[in-house]
Amino acid sequence: MNLTLKIWRQDGPDVAGELVTYPISDVSPEMSFLEMLDVLNEQLIEQGVEPVAFDSDCREGICGMCGLMISGEAHGPEVTTTCQLHMRSFTDGDTITIEPWRAEAFPVVRDLVVDRSAFDRIIQSGGYISVNTGAAPEAHSTPVPKENADRAFEAAKCIGCGACVAACPNASAMLFVGAKIRHLGEMPQGQPERDARVVSMVNQHDHEGFGGCTNIGECAGACPKEIPLDVISTLNSDFRRAKRHS
Ligand code: SF4
Ligand code: FES
Repeated sequence: MNLTLKIWRQDGPDVAGELVTYPISDVSPEMSFLEMLDVLNEQLIEQGVEPVAFDSDCREGICGMCGLMISGEAHGPEVTTTCQLHMRSFTDGDTITIEPWRAEAFPVVRDLVVDRSAFDRIIQSGGYISVNTGAAPEAHSTPVPKENADRAFEAAKCIGCGACVAACPNASAMLFVGAKIRHLGEMPQGQPERDARVVSMVNQHDHEGFGGCTNIGECAGACPKEIPLDVISTLNSDFRRAKRHS
């Protein structure tokens, strides 16, 4: 396939960026999207042009490092991570616009790389359990009803990629926070800190500059792990419960 790429280039956080056009030819439909960018970068290096900076790590849809706005859609046209998107999802002759996540709380570091440490700080504010569960045999001796385990596991699939924020017109991270609240709140080990956790995580979310949820649902539509929108209901009901107890 022959494609035209319009890629956001920005030298650093405090300088203006712009879309730069790069033609690319002989793209195999079997390539992943990131492999296609690797090929482009090899060509740019040969031409003496600075390669395009972008994030990736596992390239298996597990780590959450990759994330690009591809022709206006977070992670592109499929429900998957950018690293698991393949060029067969595009057509010969397409023009593809590639931008970084857009959110005030995710400042651009360079080109397509954004700083997502705001998510780390939200987790540090309460996204953990501190009870000592002992080694695996002791932890396994605490029964967890199947229904609760399934709901916890579904929410635990969140990989922290940030697509929910990028897709949301309010740049809200409520889907991400809601996933953590449900994941830990369904487990018996998560109960002692349940009230403090939700208050602290919501406060940190707001402090980082993420917007509020207005039930638009773009987040769940863009989520590569199909985290359901109703984790935000869990977040809200846990928050109200914590305020009643305070
Ligand atoms: S909720 Fe989904 S889109 Fe948001 S960070 Fe988690 S995996 Fe990514
Ligand atoms: S690089 Fe790890 S999820 Fe994409």
